[in-house]
Amino acid sequence: MFKHSKKLLQGVEASFEAINTPLTQKNQILNMIKEHQPVKQLTKDQRAYFNRVIRVDQAGELGANYIYAGQYLVLAHKYPHLKDVLKHMWDQEIHHHSTFNKLQLKHGVRPSLITPLWTLGAFAMGAGTALISPQAAMACTEAVETVIGGHYNDQLRVLNTHFKNRELIEGEGNYEINEIIETIKQFRDDELEHLDTAIKYDSKKAVPYILLTEGIKNICRIAIFAAERI
Ligand SMILES: [Fe+2]
Ligand SMILES: [Fe+2]
Repeated sequence: MFKHSKKLLQGVEASFEAINTPLTQKNQILNMIKEHQPVKQLTKDQRAYFNRVIRVDQAGELGANYIYAGQYLVLAHKYPHLKDVLKHMWDQEIHHHSTFNKLQLKHGVRPSLITPLWTLGAFAMGAGTALISPQAAMACTEAVETVIGGHYNDQLRVLNTHFKNRELIEGEGNYEINEIIETIKQFRDDELEHLDTAIKYDSKKAVPYILLTEGIKNICRIAIFAAERI
């Protein structure tokens, strides 16, 4: 069944070449076909892990969205040179959050049951650190993005290892696994860019730096642990 899908895609692609189909139209049609490829069934354990990835990442991106909302609210007017920097990162978090919202709906994964806690806690963390100082807000970003970058790398390792009966990942494989891997890779890169931005804007000059960053890293680790399970 999967071999046929691959051949179908190759055939459609060859026809596009022959009739000079415009690139955007070609990609739209190819994506539609890929999305409707028969899905290779995941094992029960793989499905449980897959759902957990979507649940925790949706909660995490919701949290990130509210952290930046809190920072922006407190800092954007007082420190105009930070306005665009914060807005750019916040916009990316909004995009991450809405992507995981869509994945959650698409795969019928229930959200974390303590979502209101993530919303309030994240906003308080963003606004609270921003009220201390712009450097403290950046230290918060540095700590959060360090943990999230590592968390995404952990997930990529598992997805690439335990889902890598090759046919699940490549070619005729399972579109949903490829999709989540590509999404996480892209978001991981964005988070690491946020980490660099935080350092560039003096996160290391925050007082008290160690207390703030280590405290926030621990809060993030506990939140990840809880959101994966509850
Ligand atoms: Fe994010
Ligand atoms: Fe981020």
